Amino acid sequence: MKLSSANINIMVKACRKASKVLIRDFGEIENLQVSIKGPGDFVTASDKKVEKILIEELQKGRPNYSILSEEIGEINNDESFKWIIDPIDGTSNFLHGIPHFAISIGLEQEKEIICGIIYDPIKDEMFVAEKGNGSYLNNQRIRVSARSKLKDCIVFTGGPKNGSQNAELSLKEYNNFSTKVLTPIRKLGSASLDMAYVAAGRCDGFWQRNLNYWDIAAGIIIVKESGGFVTDFSGENEYIENKTILVTNSKINKEMIEVLK
Ligand code: IPD
Ligand code: CA
Ligand code: CA
Repeated sequence: MKLSSANINIMVKACRKASKVLIRDFGEIENLQVSIKGPGDFVTASDKKVEKILIEELQKGRPNYSILSEEIGEINNDESFKWIIDPIDGTSNFLHGIPHFAISIGLEQEKEIICGIIYDPIKDEMFVAEKGNGSYLNNQRIRVSARSKLKDCIVFTGGPKNGSQNAELSLKEYNNFSTKVLTPIRKLGSASLDMAYVAAGRCDGFWQRNLNYWDIAAGIIIVKESGGFVTDFSGENEYIENKTILVTNSKINKEMIEVLK
């Protein structure tokens, strides 16, 4: 089975086109054929190229939709619909030649995410979801895991960023997991893929502070449509105004909240 509404088709096409540049540039990083200015500039240039292709393609399909994209910021248009774009999520991995990063695009309608795509071009894994129609990985339906005890789970986290206000809190939360429940914790370096992996049942939970909307927009719908929960650390609020996010399968939400305290 396959998701194939007009909006999904536009997103898929944009990702496929932009990923050609991404794969080629990643190959150059791997071969250390980066410019004299250094890998940092090279990655910034890739980021911008990828973003440009994504925006051109999305605008071709939906000329009136607004856009929020990490590198260029806001393009204000139709107020009801907005694409939320992260051209490369996992830039540090990309920069170091680690093949784990993704393009992430969410579509908002009246402030609610209704479609999302997270595409890992290296593994050719495309996670897609649409409100009411489920989540898919390469056209196969995905669901969150059924593991119900944290001790049997694997959880993901990311950060803290250097000098971020919440660095100490993040460290405390990390230590809580390591000491209270002995749950294996992974930091894979791409928040969008962390969420996609919870949706696909590869991992059972994910938490992080200080994320931006473009890191998580597509992930929100992909997790929800696969039966998972997306909340803040209190477990109550759906939307992450304060930029903290807790993503879980349907069984371990409460237990994770307790451990994070
Ligand atoms: C980053 C990744 C990373 C997360 C950071 C994000 P970027 O996004 O999602 O996993 O820990 O907080 O900023 O910078 O690679 O787009
Ligand atoms: Ca990001
Ligand atoms: Ca990015």
